[in-house]
Parts: sequence; structure tokens; C-alpha cells
Amino acid sequence: MSSFSSLFRRKDIGAILQNPPADAELHAHGGLERNLTVRDLTALGIAAVIGAGIFSTIGNASHDGGPAVSLLFIFTAIACAFSALCYAQFAATIPISGSAYTYAYASFGELTAWIIGWALIMEYAVGNIVVAISWSDYFTGLMDGIGVHIPNYLTMGTQSAYKGYHEVLALMQAGQPLADVSPATLAAYKTWNTAPVLFGDFRLVCDLPAFMITVLITAVVYVGIKESKTASNLLVLLKLIVVAVVIAVGVFYVKTDNWTPFAPNGVAGVLKGVSAVFFAYIGFDAISTTAEECKNPQRDLPRAMIYALIICTVLYVIITLVLTGMVSYKELGVGDPLAFVFQKVGLPQLAGVVAVSAVFAMTSVLLVFQIGQPRIWMSMSRDGLLPPIFGKVHPKFHTPSFSTIVTGLFVGIPALFLNMDLVIDLTSIGTLFAFALVCGGILVIDPHGTSEARFKVPYINGKFLVPLIMLIGIGLLFAYNGEAVREMGRTVTGAGGYEAFKHYIPMLVFFGFCIYLSIASFRRNLSLLPTLGLLTNLYLMTQLGVNNWLLFFGWLVIGLALYFNYGYKHSKLNAGATANNRPPVIR
Ligand code: ALA
Repeated sequence: MSSFSSLFRRKDIGAILQNPPADAELHAHGGLERNLTVRDLTALGIAAVIGAGIFSTIGNASHDGGPAVSLLFIFTAIACAFSALCYAQFAATIPISGSAYTYAYASFGELTAWIIGWALIMEYAVGNIVVAISWSDYFTGLMDGIGVHIPNYLTMGTQSAYKGYHEVLALMQAGQPLADVSPATLAAYKTWNTAPVLFGDFRLVCDLPAFMITVLITAVVYVGIKESKTASNLLVLLKLIVVAVVIAVGVFYVKTDNWTPFAPNGVAGVLKGVSAVFFAYIGFDAISTTAEECKNPQRDLPRAMIYALIICTVLYVIITLVLTGMVSYKELGVGDPLAFVFQKVGLPQLAGVVAVSAVFAMTSVLLVFQIGQPRIWMSMSRDGLLPPIFGKVHPKFHTPSFSTIVTGLFVGIPALFLNMDLVIDLTSIGTLFAFALVCGGILVIDPHGTSEARFKVPYINGKFLVPLIMLIGIGLLFAYNGEAVREMGRTVTGAGGYEAFKHYIPMLVFFGFCIYLSIASFRRNLSLLPTLGLLTNLYLMTQLGVNNWLLFFGWLVIGLALYFNYGYKHSKLNAGATANNRPPVIR
């Protein structure tokens, strides 16, 4: 096998199933336990999905987009549904821990699998940094509410305080008024200014609650999946009850006047919320990482993913409508919008209940993601792409112990220091990329829906439908966002220079891909739903801004450097190919 073609060496699905990964080795260490049923898995899905997105980041999205953000929730849910169907088919075909990483290994080959495994760190570990920071905000507010004040310098990320301090300082030095500065920025200035100074000039500012909750959750996950399952089921129940109460009470305070104008800042305003709205959905796929701990993964994983997605979509759309109906969208640019609206309508007790439930909701998201990340690393380690210690299973607790601790540190330490905005965008772009590859993977392994998997994406011939939908999409784009398209045309033809041009690169890549997929569907009768999944995920990626794309590519470059220095050489497929001198199949 040449060096180049070995980058695309694939795992054989039949061999994976006949010979589950490193079976003997795993069982020697106790193996994972099969405890999870469809109910547990659906609960785990909801546990992962409803969290910081709906309790926190939806505030700014509604502020920018108005009530029409509810439509963005529906569009994003459709994109996620295509991806969920593809995840479900993969989960039914390859019920092995590792999620999209394992699926990519079987469909695209090793290099893509590595890239996706690396991108999933963005979803799970980096996503959990966002959730931990958001958890800390709500927790600190709650503590204040009951009269326990944690010093500000122990509840704010170093980066946020530093940034706020310098913003205000610059204004003061320029003699500018501070009237327009947001309360959060002023608080950051004050925090930095009053923080204890250690060792001469080191300011002690960090988000201690975010770190502490990560440590606590890591300990639960380390001790065992059974304990995690019980904790997660309980948290989900509480979360659903409170969400239901919020909707049932909030509905009586809706003033339909607040829904007009429906999209005050047009399509562009709505699309500003893509990152936040997509973030709110992230997580339904996380349950596929527990495939080896399910009683009947091929039947239950697809069902649970789809159930979780449907339940969350219905709740999100209703909550967005209730929220934007209770209070004008203009007032919703806050970090705790659900609690805020109840304060606004004179129900402070309910605001308190919402704040408590937000803490529970985010705790359960943390739990599921802290379960997911180590299992992906475990799969990568079993395949030789990461050192063996990442696959080590604890003899007593039957959990991937080393990977669990590394995940705890990877999430907990940055959560002490980082600012949330950047991490939200990175999480969304990394996850959309993984979703797009999963949809593409189904097109590779089963382009015509002929697989015999126990669950498969329903086959609809995309021959004419994909090009037709593309034409309708272009028509809608011109009808509703025509000025933006014309602006793009002017810039691309040279009027705006490189600085302006670079912002359109993601969109141009997307258009190129649309043309390619229309032709491919027409010629090869590709399955419609995975094709649409691929396109909708890529479209959402185009809305995340070129700077996030650049950061994401930077992350991928680091990943590739690691792969070529370690994974490529130690891959089990590599060892198999060398020893047998025949096409490799993982054992
Ligand atoms: N969907 C998860 C949340 O909103 C990541 O917290």
C-alpha cells in the first residue's frame, strides 16, 4: 500500500462487527457494562441537548433576530434531523463507541476519521467549556439570591476580565463617556481592578465554580456509567418539569403585539443567531458514544436520537415564541433570558425557579459530554491513533479512566480562564463539520439506500429533487436576501479588495459544493436526505464567519501534525498491512 493510499485505509464494517474492538484486551480489564435502554438513551439525549443554549445564548439570538428566531430553530432542527437519521443508520450499522469517528473510519478512511475525531473535541470538550462557564454564571446568581456572595474575582474568566478592563480603560484614557458601556463590561473592569495581586503583578481572576463543577462531574463519570445514568435521568426529569411550567405559565403573559415585526432585522438578523441556536441542539448525537453500554444498540440508538430531537425541537420553538411574546425582543439581549422575562412580568419567584432549573439543566449537559469525550478517545486509542493509555478501562469502575481524567482537565482548566463567545462559535463550527461528514459518510457507504442495516435513512431518489431544491433555494435567497447576494457579487468581482472578499469565501465554497452535489445526484441517483443533510450543515457553517473558519482550520492543522507524528505510524491498520502484506482489516 502506498503512503498516500494508506491515508485512506478503511475499517471493514463486517470485521468490526464480527470482532468488536480489542475485545479480548477490553474484557481482560473488565469491559464496559450494557445497562442503557431506549428510555435511558432518550433521557441522555435530552440531558445533552437542553442546556446553556436555551437557558442562556438564546437571549442574544432573539435580540438580534426577533420572534423569527423560532423559524431558525425549525430550520436548524431540520438540518439536525437529516444528521440524526444518518447518525442513526451508522449507529445501527456499527454499534461501537466512538460515534462519528468510528463511522468515518468505515466510510472515508483513516485520515478523515482522525480529522473528525479531532473535530469532535470541539463539540464535546470545548462545548463543555461553554456549558461550565454558563453554569457558573447561573450558579453565582443563585448564590447571590440566597445571600452568599462569592467574590467577583473568583467567578469570572481571566480573559473576560482582562478584555473588559482594557476596553473601559481605553475609553477613560480617550476621555469618552462610559454611559454606553454594558454592565457586564463595567463589572469586568471593576473585577480586574480590585482582584488580589500575587507575585508582584499577577492578578488572581478565575472562574472557580466552572472549574469545581467540572471536577465534580468528572468524578461522577469516573465512578461509573450506572451512577451517571441515574443522575442523568433524575436531572432530565427535573429539567422537563420546569420547562413545562415555564411554558404553561409564560403563555398567559404573551402579548401578540410583541410578535410584530416578526423579523425586525430581516434574514441577516435571524442568521446572526445560527451559532447560538445550533449550540442549543448539539448533544443528541452524543448518545451514540455509549453504543457499547446499550442493551440493544441497533434498535434503541436510532429511536432514542430521533425521540430526543423531536422533544427538544417542540420545546424550543414553543419557548422561543413564549419568550418573544412576553417581552419585546429588544430587551432580550441578556445572559439569563428565561429568568429575566419572569422578573419583567412581575413573577420573581418563578424567575428563581428557572434559575435553579438552569443549573440542573446545565449539570446534565456537562455530564453527558464528559461521558462522550473519553469514549471517543478510547476508540481512537484502540485503533492505535492515540497512545494505549487513552483506551485503558478501570478494572473496578469499568470506565475509560485515564481519558476521563484528561477530559476533566481539558475542560476544567480553560473554563477557569476563557471568555465564552469564542468557545461557542468554535463548538458550533466543529460540530457542524462532524455532522456534515456523517451525512457524507452515508452517501459513501449507502448512496442508494440498499444497505441491510436494521435502521436506514429512507431512500428518496435525489436525481431531480436535489437540483430542483437547489433552484428553489437560490430563488428564496434572492427573494429574501437579495441585497446581500448583490453585495457579494460586487465584492467578488473586485470592488472590495481581499479584506472584504475573504468574508465570502465560506459562501463561495458552499455554492461550489451545491453545484457539485446537484450534478452528482443527477448522475448517480444519490439518496436525497443525506444529501440535504450535508448541504444544510454546510450552509449553517457558512454563517459562522471566516475568522471562525480560520481558527477551526488552525485546530485541524495541529491535529494533522499529531496524526502524522503518532497516529499514522501506530495505527493498527498500519501494523496489519505491514505484517500481512494485504489490504488491512482491523482486528
Ligand atoms: N445543547 C447543549 C446546550 O445547549 C450543548 O447546553
